[in-house]
Amino acid sequence: MYNITLIPGDGIGVEVTQSARKVIDASGIKINWEIQEAGSKVIDKSGTPLPQSVIDSIRKNKIALKGPVTTPVGKGFRSVNVALRKELELYASVRPVKTLKGVSSRFDNVDIVVVRENIEDLYMGIERYVGNDTAESIKRFTKKGCERIIRFAFEYARNNKRKKVTAVHKANIMKLTDGMFLDFARKIAEEYKEIIFEEMIVDVMCMNLVLKPEQYDVLVLPNLYGDIVSDLCAGLIGGLGIAAGANFGENASIFEPAHGSAPDIAGQNKANPTAAILSGVLMLKYIGEAEAANKIENAVKKVLMGQKVRTADLGGNSTTTEFTDEIIKYL
Ligand code: NAI
Repeated sequence: MYNITLIPGDGIGVEVTQSARKVIDASGIKINWEIQEAGSKVIDKSGTPLPQSVIDSIRKNKIALKGPVTTPVGKGFRSVNVALRKELELYASVRPVKTLKGVSSRFDNVDIVVVRENIEDLYMGIERYVGNDTAESIKRFTKKGCERIIRFAFEYARNNKRKKVTAVHKANIMKLTDGMFLDFARKIAEEYKEIIFEEMIVDVMCMNLVLKPEQYDVLVLPNLYGDIVSDLCAGLIGGLGIAAGANFGENASIFEPAHGSAPDIAGQNKANPTAAILSGVLMLKYIGEAEAANKIENAVKKVLMGQKVRTADLGGNSTTTEFTDEIIKYL
């Protein structure tokens, strides 16, 4: 029996995590789900979107499956995601982006893993006004932060038999920050002779990704570029509804879909739960339950290839519940 924290989150988070839970439970793996509420819906009751009990639960269980939470733009509370990543030092975000047969997209053969630094860079939230008319935000990189994310990417590549790591940067302009990131990438690459190392400026990278994504394997990026490029990559395989993700630290890991709380379709039983289910698959692999993980992954692939039962974002008219139940049928 595993103890795992489950954060349903806001909007469609509730629906897609419910679906993922149902599928994982149906696979036969015994999990004691510790439900923890976070996000905009708990602000009135708790005075914060991220109650301490949520952090304590993840610290204790070390693993969480999380739905998206709504973050108000501009003013108000700090992003729950940024706060969780910082509190638990979840320094590496991993987003595998692989073409799924049966899902329409422009490319047939994308197989990229985006490794994003998750804590530093402009997301440290160090912003201030300088006088009345100017605002600034500090972009901060540390040697520790650069070294560990680059090493994480190479270790990931080695452990998963990937062939190439591309370090993405803008060191031609930001010579100290991105320069530090690139220096570590060049240095650490020498320790992994079996893996091809390549470096690329972020704007060129974006163009190449939309022209010929098949040529990329593992990408490693600082936080801001990683945030943008990982959504771009999700688009290459057919959208956010199918892109899974994970956040890793030394002492805890959170598995979550790439998409947000989708207020436009929330509560309508329309959301595509694939990204949440595949995040659950990543989680099962991580805890050593590869057999159950593969079983679920294959069931998802069969349903998508079958083309009969699919949610609206994939051109169908099935509900979240019907799609979930169809996957369970194939388990
Ligand atoms: P979003 O990802 O929620 O939605 C963008 C578009 O994609 C919408 O049209 C939505 O209906 C569609 N969509 C997303 N996921 C889908 C799914 N599983 N099935 C079918 N369609 C899906 O992005 P948006 O609207 O920018 O953000 C909404 C809220 O979510 C914001 O408050 C944002 O801060 C938050 N958010 C939270 C994240 C997290 O907690 N990890 C990640 C991204 C956004």
